[in-house]
Amino acid sequence: MEGSRGCNVVLVLCFVFATMVSLSMAHNHNPVVAIRRPHGKKIKPHGCVAYNPIDRCWRCDRHWAKHRKRLAKCAKGFGHGTYGGKKGKIYVVTDSSDENVVCPKPGTLRHAVLQPEPLWIIFGNNMNIRLTQELIFMSDKTIDGRGFDVHVSGGAGFMLQFVHNVIIHGLHMYDIVEGSGGMIRSKHDHVGIRGRSDGDAISIFRSSQVWIDHCSFASSYDGLIDIVAASTNITISNCHFVKHDKALLFGASDKTPEDKILKVTLAYNHFGRGLTQRLPAVRFGFVHVVNNDYTRWKMYAIGGADGPTIISQGNRFVAADGACKEVTKRMLVTEKIWRKWTWRSEGDLLLNGAYFRQSGNPHWAKRYKGYPLIKALPAKHVPHLTLFAGASLNCKVGRPC
Ligand SMILES: *[C@@H]1O[C@H](CO)[C@@H](O)[C@H](O)[C@H]1NC(C)=O
Repeated sequence: MEGSRGCNVVLVLCFVFATMVSLSMAHNHNPVVAIRRPHGKKIKPHGCVAYNPIDRCWRCDRHWAKHRKRLAKCAKGFGHGTYGGKKGKIYVVTDSSDENVVCPKPGTLRHAVLQPEPLWIIFGNNMNIRLTQELIFMSDKTIDGRGFDVHVSGGAGFMLQFVHNVIIHGLHMYDIVEGSGGMIRSKHDHVGIRGRSDGDAISIFRSSQVWIDHCSFASSYDGLIDIVAASTNITISNCHFVKHDKALLFGASDKTPEDKILKVTLAYNHFGRGLTQRLPAVRFGFVHVVNNDYTRWKMYAIGGADGPTIISQGNRFVAADGACKEVTKRMLVTEKIWRKWTWRSEGDLLLNGAYFRQSGNPHWAKRYKGYPLIKALPAKHVPHLTLFAGASLNCKVGRPC
């Protein structure tokens, strides 16, 4: 999926194609809805407003700071049941430095995530953490940024490898760069030589039960979130994505059919300005895209290769003027092959000429009975459902978030 080479050619081709399709398909002539997001401003006319089911699970509790671990029961979709560090102690990060990646200093985020036992990790003040090398996690952790502005930027990103049960909540992650590699502690009892890290904000490798909620992502060297090597049972919800070319990659290679077990839910996210492609791009697995707001993309929103199943329900797709109108993109295959892939759009709101090319089995639901699919709400509610997407909730102790 090396998509950016020849991008202009692709753009031109896709205009031509879009024109042809628009002549032959029923076209949606709704005008572009004014797009907005009052980030930072809180609209709370009558106390707490939590519009979507995940937020309703915790946001209106004004004692959230006392009851932090209640968040642990709020994951829905494929990441449901992810409880992170619920069974452990609270660990307060007070030191934003990351100088020693072999014997991390107590009080730093690196020291916290390397502990072998479950931990609920919170912060003692506003901070920007510039990671000197990739931050390698142990299992059963929650990173809970509520109450402070916590930024991870200007350095390496997070690496979840061979772990399970991790919650990442309320972080701003941007300007992530490659780590040089070298001697890095990867477990409480193991230090080893690591190669360069890719420069993804979050890289999930052979891991399961991960829930990423209310994070804001922008401009990183490689991807924003990569999910690879038979990782599964993951939910990404209430996040805000901007300013990036290849944002979300689920399944890295056509040589890893082990990614057939990949299951990811994307719910209540806002894909905003400055995005080009991979929102997400999927290989092999099953992705449920539900009630997200796509307010612009340059090349495509949802793409894939190697026969993934993509169920898109109750999303709002607003094509940008002068960009590709097609939501979907199949990589490197003939139509004869992709016609069999199940890519369905149900109840999506397609605006400003956006169109979703469906394929495969319209009766997919029978085959996937028992999957933990979040029930889609009507797409016209998406601007509300995603109104507070991102990490700018500005939670204050004693007040609802
Ligand atoms: C993923 O979730 C399903 C259903 O809850 C479970 O049966 C399966 O074991 C999980 N897989 C992993 C690798 O955690």
